[in-house]
Amino acid sequence: MSSVSDWEAASNPVKENRAGNIGKAVDRYEGPLKVTGTAPYAYEVEPPSPPAYGVMVSAGIAAGRITAIDTAAAEAAPGVKLVWTHLNVPAQGPRPERYDFFTPSPRPALQSDRIYFFGQQVAVVVADTLENATAAAALIQVTYETDAPMADFHAHLEDGVQPPGESDMEIGDFAKGFAAAPVKIDDVWRTPLQNHCQMEPCATTAWWEGDHLTVHTSVQMVRFAQNSLAETLMMPHKSVRLLTRYVGGGFGGKGSFYEDLVLASLASRELGQPVKVAFSRQQMMHGTVHRPATEQRVRLGATKDGRLTAMSMMTVTHCDSRGNFTEHASNFARNLYAAPNRLTGHRLVRMDLPVASAMRAPGEASGTLSLEVAMDELAEKLGMDPVELRILNEPESDPETGKPFSIRQLVRCMREGAQQFGWDRRIPKPGQVREGRWNIGLGMAAAIRGNFLLPAKASFTVDAAGVITVKQGMTDIGTGTYTVLAQIAAETLGVPLGDVRVEIGDSELPPAPGSGGQFGAATAGSAALDAGMNLRKAIAEIAVADPASPLFGAPSEDITFQDGVIAIANRSERLADLIRRNRPDGLTADGEVRPAMDAGKWSSHTYGAHFVEVGVDTVTGEVRTRRMLGVFAAGRILNWKTARSQLTGGMIWGVGSALTEGNSVDTHYGSLINQDLAGYLVPVQADIGELDAIMLDEVDDKANPMGIKGVGELGISGAGAAVANAIYNACGVRVRDYPITPDKILAALG
Ligand code: MOS
Repeated sequence: MSSVSDWEAASNPVKENRAGNIGKAVDRYEGPLKVTGTAPYAYEVEPPSPPAYGVMVSAGIAAGRITAIDTAAAEAAPGVKLVWTHLNVPAQGPRPERYDFFTPSPRPALQSDRIYFFGQQVAVVVADTLENATAAAALIQVTYETDAPMADFHAHLEDGVQPPGESDMEIGDFAKGFAAAPVKIDDVWRTPLQNHCQMEPCATTAWWEGDHLTVHTSVQMVRFAQNSLAETLMMPHKSVRLLTRYVGGGFGGKGSFYEDLVLASLASRELGQPVKVAFSRQQMMHGTVHRPATEQRVRLGATKDGRLTAMSMMTVTHCDSRGNFTEHASNFARNLYAAPNRLTGHRLVRMDLPVASAMRAPGEASGTLSLEVAMDELAEKLGMDPVELRILNEPESDPETGKPFSIRQLVRCMREGAQQFGWDRRIPKPGQVREGRWNIGLGMAAAIRGNFLLPAKASFTVDAAGVITVKQGMTDIGTGTYTVLAQIAAETLGVPLGDVRVEIGDSELPPAPGSGGQFGAATAGSAALDAGMNLRKAIAEIAVADPASPLFGAPSEDITFQDGVIAIANRSERLADLIRRNRPDGLTADGEVRPAMDAGKWSSHTYGAHFVEVGVDTVTGEVRTRRMLGVFAAGRILNWKTARSQLTGGMIWGVGSALTEGNSVDTHYGSLINQDLAGYLVPVQADIGELDAIMLDEVDDKANPMGIKGVGELGISGAGAAVANAIYNACGVRVRDYPITPDKILAALG
């Protein structure tokens, strides 16, 4: 186990060795399985006997109650085995008054006649085939008593309340500082409700053996889901085995779980047969979670030479009628720029809308879309370069807590990016560069996202063939977890990558918190490092105590591990030989990481800078991103390839949030108008021109034993603001109501 004070002083091969595989562009461990279609996702897992198939029915109103539900036709339909509604679903654990992100609790399905949001699940049909279940589900007739939903967020902005347990953060006297500032920005931005649109919808395959339940499902947090499912089914936690070997995207939307998991488990118990239940794409949009809409007011006050004297960011956002999730869009503003007078906070409106929750970089992804544009506006007002304005307002320590930064290379990200991108070619006055009907512009923005470490465990085993098996109840949601764990094992034990096996995504493995908040690699990796170092030590001790080993009697701490060979000076033997002689059944060591008591001494974040070139078609209002460059500082990078994919993926998402993405709410029905990937536009290959992400050389030795941080959420932070700023530079138009669609640009061009 490690604490900060230990790991600052301690050396380890992962932190020190720059010649090994850590940081290299190592191919994805599970890549061949995925590209050959042989990695079984949850719905594709083969159960021990032929399964039945469940299809859910979703509410067609947003608020009210079910007065009648006619299932007779569905029950009589071909192949139907079971139809459940709130009237006959088996008993489940009670729903807590409010869900908490980190506390496992029951998530019962089909609980009452009340409808809280459009698309809430109201029934399930299980049949012998998916086709029969789908056909029967369509026969269910639901009659409702409908209340007028409160679904128009913009009509209820004034109804926002302080989120539970929170208060506004004020430093100095914002009102006074702002009033006195000679140069001011005061604008309001809107971001729409957005959907995760994971490639793999939520899905479950469940079966029982006696009182023991096995479920394969698609979630980000193994232990949380296992415990919550057990509480829902009112059974001992250890009687539930939850697996999530491959996950086709999570992004926060699979941080919890949904009715597919609960209903597949219950129906399988009832029928004595494996059951599969999946959400349809349309059901994903309403029936899971989304990023809520925001309205953000940003006020900046500065001196004439560009020093911020006052800054405020106030966000109004919404969640569902029973929720408490708050999109903390203002929070990152507490760490980014220096200013003596500061005010930030949030207001939350509870609405009859689907459930709001975390989506990639919750907070920053929305919040940078205002503040990082406001900084661009301020730079223009001051006649300053936007990069220089940011550098001038760079804080020496955390602007609100005064804590020292663990390491902060934001300035280097901006300088390096400006140089590599050719920022000096930007003409500050908008609309100066034309190519036919296209206006060309450049924009930039800063990026910031927090760094977190959570408790985790891992175990490493070496077998008689010298193969290392990593075991951890961690998930890989497309991020590269399998690969970086394999790299850490290979590095700590000096074996080729091909001699490492990784087993994750199983509640029977040593627990790790899972994937979220870009804490996955640092958290899981730190526990893995500890396991690797412990196994290394155990191996060395066996070697020096074994008279048959050439290393017999040597000082165990001087033994080196490389290429599957353990050695000291000119004495060596193969690791496999040592283990075969001494531990033919294998040797296992455990590892653990716990957030250190003193971790809060530092302000620890990841940083970046985005540079974008866009073309704006002044006839159609179309925007094309022509070039994008992101430069990031996120601690030691474990794998250049998977990290770069995370960062560029985030940047592309930033383009989507700036230009195309959003669910329109039908405020009369409380539904989302666009419910599929034809109507919800995410960027595709053809929408992205040149794109690159560069990672600075950095080791954050305050972060964790390896000096690594996370990259999963940093890339989206600020990317959309850089696009918006480039649009302004191209054509002189500021659209503060995202997404910046062609109609809005044309209207502003006049
Ligand atoms: Mo995340 S949006 O914390 O998975």
